[in-house]
Amino acid sequence: MITGIAGFIGSRVAKHFLEQGEEVVGIDNLNAITDPTLKWQRLQMLGLDVEDIQDNHLVQKEQLRFYKMDLNDEEGMNQLFSDHAFNTVIHLAANTGVRNSLTQPQSYLQANVLGFEVLLRCCRAFSVNRVIFASSSSVYGMNEHTPFQEDDDASHPLSVYAASKKADELLAHTYAHLYGLSTIGLRFFTVYGPWTRSDMAAYLFMDAC
Ligand SMILES: NC(=O)c1ccc[n+]([C@@H]2O[C@H](COP(=O)([O-])OP(=O)(O)OC[C@H]3O[C@@H](n4cnc5c(N)ncnc54)[C@H](O)[C@@H]3O)[C@@H](O)[C@H]2O)c1
Repeated sequence: MITGIAGFIGSRVAKHFLEQGEEVVGIDNLNAITDPTLKWQRLQMLGLDVEDIQDNHLVQKEQLRFYKMDLNDEEGMNQLFSDHAFNTVIHLAANTGVRNSLTQPQSYLQANVLGFEVLLRCCRAFSVNRVIFASSSSVYGMNEHTPFQEDDDASHPLSVYAASKKADELLAHTYAHLYGLSTIGLRFFTVYGPWTRSDMAAYLFMDAC
């Protein structure tokens, strides 16, 4: 299962696994926090018939199943986990971008923290083997030691986005400790490549050129 499958990284990860012959189930709420046009185009790139997309309704193309669904839809999420026996969950859904988190803090906490907790509960209830989730280099915040290392201090985030990612790491640790859930957090730095987000530096520089 991949959350945030219409996003930049999620769509590429889905493409990779589909090319390996894996079955992929993806969800995304297709919000407008980052460019929604690109999200629909990425789903088309994955071969989905986007005209058929409706809330909580399955759209399928060969090995790929997609649901337009919000992480905070607990009923929908529980149904999804009960319908599919996921062995691995790759969690990439989030309200992304540091600047918007300063003007819409509650929306970031709802999606990034409460939404992640719903996902962790589903993973626990349905015995998912492994959860891999996106954290961020922003958790290093005020840390001045460079180059950053995993065991550097990451307890002074400088934005609501960074605080939400740090909260995700703490939640993952808690679920691993309490319930033995296998979790791996990845602190992405500035990821770039095909289908990048239009608010990212690589896209903006290319566009300016
Ligand atoms: N791109 C980077 O350089 C970078 C750097 C650090 C961390 N990250 C993290 O990696 C992950 C993927 O980043 P990206 O660049 O692909 O971002 P993106 O904005 O392109 O993709 C995130 C996707 O999640 C979806 N989403 C958001 N809230 C949701 C919710 N409540 N329910 C369902 N779907 C929801 C969005 O619609 C979007 O399609 C994110 O967690 C992000 O914070 C990315």
